[in-house]
Amino acid sequence: MEIDYAVVFFLLYLFLFSQQLRTTWSLKPCVSVCRWAHTKEKGKPLMLNPRTNKGMAFSLQERQILGIHGLLPPKVETQDIQALRFQNNLKKMTDPLEKYIYLMGIQERNERLFYRVLMEDIEELMPIVYTPTVGLACTHYGHIFRRPKGLFISILDKGHVRSILDNWPETNVSAVVVTDGERILGLGDLGVYGMGIPVGKLCLYTACAGIRPEKCLPVVIDVGTDNETLLEDPFYMGLYQKRDRSQAYDDLIDEFMEAVVDKYGQDTLIQFEDFGNHNAFRFLRKYREKFCTFNDDIQGTASVALAGLLAAQRAIGKPITEHRVLFLGAGEAALGIANLIVMAMTETGMTQAEARKKIWMYDKYGLLVKGRQQETDTNQEAFVHESPGNVESFLDAVNTIKPTAIIGVAGAGRLFTHDVIKAMGILNERPIIFSLSNPTNKAECTPNDAYTLTNGRCLFASGSPFGPVTLSDGRVLTPGQGNNAYIFPGVALAVILSRVRHISDTVFLEAAKALAEQVTDKELEEGRLYPPLSNIREVSIQMAIKLVEYVYAKGMAFRYPEPLDKNGFIRATVWNTNYDCFLPDTYDWPGIGFSPKAK
Ligand SMILES: *[C@@H]1O[C@H](CO)[C@@H](O)[C@H](O)[C@H]1NC(C)=O
Ligand SMILES: *[C@@H]1O[C@H](CO)[C@@H](O)[C@H](O)[C@H]1NC(C)=O
Repeated sequence: MEIDYAVVFFLLYLFLFSQQLRTTWSLKPCVSVCRWAHTKEKGKPLMLNPRTNKGMAFSLQERQILGIHGLLPPKVETQDIQALRFQNNLKKMTDPLEKYIYLMGIQERNERLFYRVLMEDIEELMPIVYTPTVGLACTHYGHIFRRPKGLFISILDKGHVRSILDNWPETNVSAVVVTDGERILGLGDLGVYGMGIPVGKLCLYTACAGIRPEKCLPVVIDVGTDNETLLEDPFYMGLYQKRDRSQAYDDLIDEFMEAVVDKYGQDTLIQFEDFGNHNAFRFLRKYREKFCTFNDDIQGTASVALAGLLAAQRAIGKPITEHRVLFLGAGEAALGIANLIVMAMTETGMTQAEARKKIWMYDKYGLLVKGRQQETDTNQEAFVHESPGNVESFLDAVNTIKPTAIIGVAGAGRLFTHDVIKAMGILNERPIIFSLSNPTNKAECTPNDAYTLTNGRCLFASGSPFGPVTLSDGRVLTPGQGNNAYIFPGVALAVILSRVRHISDTVFLEAAKALAEQVTDKELEEGRLYPPLSNIREVSIQMAIKLVEYVYAKGMAFRYPEPLDKNGFIRATVWNTNYDCFLPDTYDWPGIGFSPKAK
C-alpha cells in the first residue's frame, strides 16, 4: 500500500498541536528550577528514582519528552491530591509499625511527596519516623525490610572504607549520621538493625530544617552485636559475630572519619548517634577538635533539656543558679545535661565548682558519693559529692537533697513513684519534673501522675510524646516533649551553612537559649516548655539564624564572605517539596515556538 507521507505528517502535526493546546491550558507554570540540565535520566529509571519521581504529577509534556507517556495512568495529578491519598490511607491505619512501613514506602518511591506528607502532619508523624516507633521498627528491621537505605560499613571492610563511600551515589554530602547500633534508644544492642535511627534522624534534618535530602548520608558501622536474640535471628542482616572491641574497631572508626572528610570535605558534619556509653564519650573527646562532629545523645539531649529548664525558669521566675538538680541516671545523657547546666550557671558568674555542687546524680547503685563501693568513671567525677547522710532510695535522695528539679534519664521504667512526685510537690511551690527516658514505657513517670499529684503545679517535660492532661478543676495542661528534634536540625543547618569546623558546647548552650526564647507566655501558661512541634520548621530556622549570628560573632564560622542578611541567607537555602520541572529550558515544541520557561 502506498503511504502518503504528506498526509501522515500533517496528521501528526495536528495531533501534536492539539496536545499542545490541551496541556497549555492545564499545565501550571513550572516555578522551580529546571532539572533537565543536570539529569540525564529518561524513561522508566526516572520514575524508579525516588529523588526524581513525581508519580502522576508528571505533566503530559514531561511524559512525552521523557519517554514515560503511557507508563502512568492518563490523569495528571497535583501534589495536593497525591498527598491527600496517602494522608487518607494513613488515617485508616491504627498500628504505628504499619504506618512506619507505609511512610518508608513513600520515601522509597517519591521523596518529595514523602516530605510533603511528613511535614504537613509533623506532630502526628514524627513519633512514627522517629522515637518511639522507629525503635520498634529497628527491633523488627530484618523482618519488615523492603529496600536498603543508607550505607553499611562492616569491620570486614577495614582498609576499603573510602571505596565503599565512592559507591554512594551522591557527590555533595554535607551531613553524615553514624551509629554502630550498640545502644539504640533505650532498647540496647541492635547491631545493623540500628540503621533505622540514622535514616530517621536525617529525615528530620530535612523535614525540620530544610536540609536537602541528597546532602544527608545515613551510615551503620557493623562490628558485630552482643545481642543473642539477633545472633540467632535468621533474618538478622549484619555480621554474625560478637562485637569487635579490639583496636580494629577504633581503627575502623578512624578510617571512616578520614574517608568522609577525604571524600566530602573537612567541614562535613558527622553526627554520632546511639553508640555505647563508653565509646560515645571517648569518640566525642577524640574527634571534636579534629572534625566537625557532635554526639546527639550527649549534646543534643543536653541542649533540649536545658532549654526546658530555661523555659521553666521563666515560669518560676528564679535564676538558674538558684536551682538544685537531682538526676536519676548517670550515663551520657545525665552527664551531658549536667555539664551544660554548669556552663549556663557559670555564664552568670558562678564558679564551676559551685555550679557542680548544685548537681547530684543517682544511678542503679544509689547516690554518686565519695567512697561508695561501686566505681564511678572519670566522666562522672565532677558530680561525685560528699555523702549527705544515709540515702537508701531515690525518695530518700529527694528528701535529703531537696532538689528544685528532678531529671530522669535512666531508661529503667517508672522510677518517679507517687511518693517521689508528692515529695517534690511538698518541697517546691513549682517543682520541675522531667522524665526524659525513651521510649514511652521507659518514661520515669507519666504527665498525668506528675500533674495530678502536684495539683497542676509542676513543670513537666517528657522524652516521648504524651497527650494533654485535664485536671479535676478543669484546667488542661500540655506536657512539654523534650524532643531532640528541636535542637539537632537547627544546629546542623547553622553549622553546615556557616561552615563551622568544630562544634563547641557553647553552640548547644546558645541553641537551648534560642529554643527557650521561642516559647510564648501563653504556651508557658498551658504547661508547655517547648513550642508546638507543628511549628518546628520555623523554630529550627529561627534557631539557625541565632546560631549563625553567634558563630560569626565568635569567629567559629569559615564561610566567607559572611552573609550580611543571615535571615535571608538561611531562608534562601531551605529546601521545599515542590516538584522539579523536567522540561528543558529552551525546548521548542515542533513548529510552534512554545517554550515552557517563557511562561
Ligand atoms: C536484642 O534484640 C532484640 C530484637 O531486635 C531486642 O528486642 C532486644 O531489646 C535486644 N536486647 C538487648 C539486650 O539489647
Ligand atoms: C556539588 O557541589 C559543587 C560545589 O558546590 C557544585 O558545583 C556541583 O554542581 C554539585 N554537584 C551536584 C551533583 O549537585
